[in-house]
Amino acid sequence: PAGALERPRPSGEGVTINAVYDPTANYTANWTRAQALKIQSNASNTTPRIPEEFPIMTDEVWVWDTWPLSDLDMNPVSYGGWNVIFSLVAPRDIFFGDRHWQARIGYFYSDDAQNWTYGGLVFPEGSSFGSREWAGSTVVNDDGTVDAFYTASGRDNPTEIDPTDALQRLAHTQGRIHADDEGVWFTGFEDHQIIAEAEGRLYQTLEQSQAVPDAIIYAFRDPFVFRDPTDHNVYILFEGNNPGNAGTHTCDRREIGRVPAGHVIPPRTNLYTGNIGLMRLTGYERDMNEWELLPPVLSAECTNQQTERPHLVVHDGDYYLWTISHQFTFAPGLSGPDGLYGFVGPGLRSNYRPLNESALVLGNPADAPLQNYSHFVMPNFLVESFIDTIPRAGGGDPVYGGTLAPTLQLEVEGTHTELTGVLPYGYIPALREAGESW
Ligand code: FRU
Repeated sequence: PAGALERPRPSGEGVTINAVYDPTANYTANWTRAQALKIQSNASNTTPRIPEEFPIMTDEVWVWDTWPLSDLDMNPVSYGGWNVIFSLVAPRDIFFGDRHWQARIGYFYSDDAQNWTYGGLVFPEGSSFGSREWAGSTVVNDDGTVDAFYTASGRDNPTEIDPTDALQRLAHTQGRIHADDEGVWFTGFEDHQIIAEAEGRLYQTLEQSQAVPDAIIYAFRDPFVFRDPTDHNVYILFEGNNPGNAGTHTCDRREIGRVPAGHVIPPRTNLYTGNIGLMRLTGYERDMNEWELLPPVLSAECTNQQTERPHLVVHDGDYYLWTISHQFTFAPGLSGPDGLYGFVGPGLRSNYRPLNESALVLGNPADAPLQNYSHFVMPNFLVESFIDTIPRAGGGDPVYGGTLAPTLQLEVEGTHTELTGVLPYGYIPALREAGESW
């Protein structure tokens, strides 16, 4: 039966024994307060400062959350010799902070994986669900069929731009990629399906999140599709919140962890219920439109409200689970920089342990706390992210980025990571060519 093989338990040395569960099992690992209390910034986890002057990829659009065209095995792939990436984009002539409410998915292609040509929007006008398209993932089959997953953010057919409309659903559509010597283009993506909605039992609904008057930011978004190399089933990781009305959650011992004596749990800590959700493909792989929600693989209840853009790298059988988070979404009594956080476990559903003891992998420098965001780690441990906001040395209005940041190289050894290199801006190389076998 689907169920726990073994509960994690401490061994004599205080080391937790590896525990792997069936992906459908009702076991969720925790990012505890005790772990988050260990967040400390140092040279090996602080993102280097980016100068006020930096190259921008295009004058046409702001660029933020970005992901490479991939195969289902999580490898960035090229097509027809072109590297291809997808980004959330919005017209560059609107205020940078307003971009979320007009977001669409655009794409770029490049022959050297660092000088990108903007190819335009991916989906035909009016075809997508929601009032804006938020982050997702895009996989190509060897025959050129492309499955695109995204967050349908906001209600359908809006009459005006409404930043207070926080509805989020997961959506899918299928198309085709084409390439010639001149570049890359897409066809299809006309039929879209909603493939998951929060139902209140495994994942908090928008309504439940608004059960308290001063509710904080809500999530049911950012689908990352992949095939689990262990059971070969197709899954999606996404960002959610724990089910139930805001205010009804309790901070229990598993969520608090072994905190130092005297650690107090401030009021409102229980309103912070971020999780990393999981769903499994139940229908045909050629359609990719029937899925079932499973319990979250990781919960940050009482630690952090947002575990955004979760994704995975499987390396030598170890599952590295990555997420991005903000300083302002940590629960009261905790603090950490905007940046990349990570966990490692022996299986897709397992007792994930935080990397570097606290989960902090790359945090923004203290003097530029909003410099980078939306980090995405690839199987070679290269990390791409976008430039958000850089303070100006002389004060005054900051510099808005809206373009890809220098790619960073991580070295990862067990539960330890280290920043070992700074590569060109927006360097996102494919690891293989789609359509060619390894
Ligand atoms: C991260 C994020 C994603 C979301 C998008 C909206 O930067 O908040 O979670 O899909 O940006 O713009």
